[in-house]
Amino acid sequence: MKNKRQWFIVMLAILSIALMACGSNDELPDVEQDTGDEEALGDLEERDTLIMATSADFPPFETRNTEGEIVGFDIDLAEHIADELGYDLEIRDMNFDGLIGALQAGRADMVLSGMSATDSRRENVDFSIEYNRSGEMFVTQQDSDVTSIEDLEGKTVGVQLGTIQQEGAELLQEDYDFEIHTLDEAQALIQELLSNRIDVAYLDKEVALGFIDAQDLTGFDDPTTASPGMAVAFPKGSELVEDVNNVLEQAMESGWLEDLQKEWLTQQD
Ligand code: ARG
Repeated sequence: MKNKRQWFIVMLAILSIALMACGSNDELPDVEQDTGDEEALGDLEERDTLIMATSADFPPFETRNTEGEIVGFDIDLAEHIADELGYDLEIRDMNFDGLIGALQAGRADMVLSGMSATDSRRENVDFSIEYNRSGEMFVTQQDSDVTSIEDLEGKTVGVQLGTIQQEGAELLQEDYDFEIHTLDEAQALIQELLSNRIDVAYLDKEVALGFIDAQDLTGFDDPTTASPGMAVAFPKGSELVEDVNNVLEQAMESGWLEDLQKEWLTQQD
């Protein structure tokens, strides 16, 4: 009998150590695949977790590492924001094209997804101050005959659905007659390029540079656009806007944001 009890105590100890080990992984936020039918979130004051939505296909801003965890510049920034405001962070991964709808439907408190703060988006969401700027680039294979926008004529250009590049390509298409191929995921554009299903991928410059380097591709800057910088997006009228702006301003003043840029990005301005 005594033995049994000792055994029980040992098992209990092992179990609690195992549980502690699971719980100690609070470095990484919870990640959930958004299915679109989650309940709308309740009042912010009554919660201790901020829900951030993103499209984790956009290194170095948000991507899945080899363990399948979502990491990147935006993730560290969102963690910092949540921390400073006294919340935990939960991440919902979804298609870029669905992010604004998720905010409007109250399924996320904020979006950090390399999202450019455009005027047309401002009709549906509020934005924080800008936290990063990146131009646009056209990415091609090394041996491509496309080396400037004039060469786009007759080619197939891939863009991610719902991005400013999709809009930009539709405008450019009027002058240079090319085909547009839209895909849900930014990373998939590079797969399409590598397997010759598109001739050119049109992307944010910072992201393009990473793919160029990783996949031995090449490319050229887009001379036609001056896109707005990236900002955090919120549901219209969100009380978080001001708080997040304060955190961002402080992060800029203290050099925290610059350090984060140095850690993740190749271009800094
Ligand atoms: N900056 C571009 C835009 O706002 C592309 C962003 C794509 N982001 C992503 N996580 N795939 O339209």
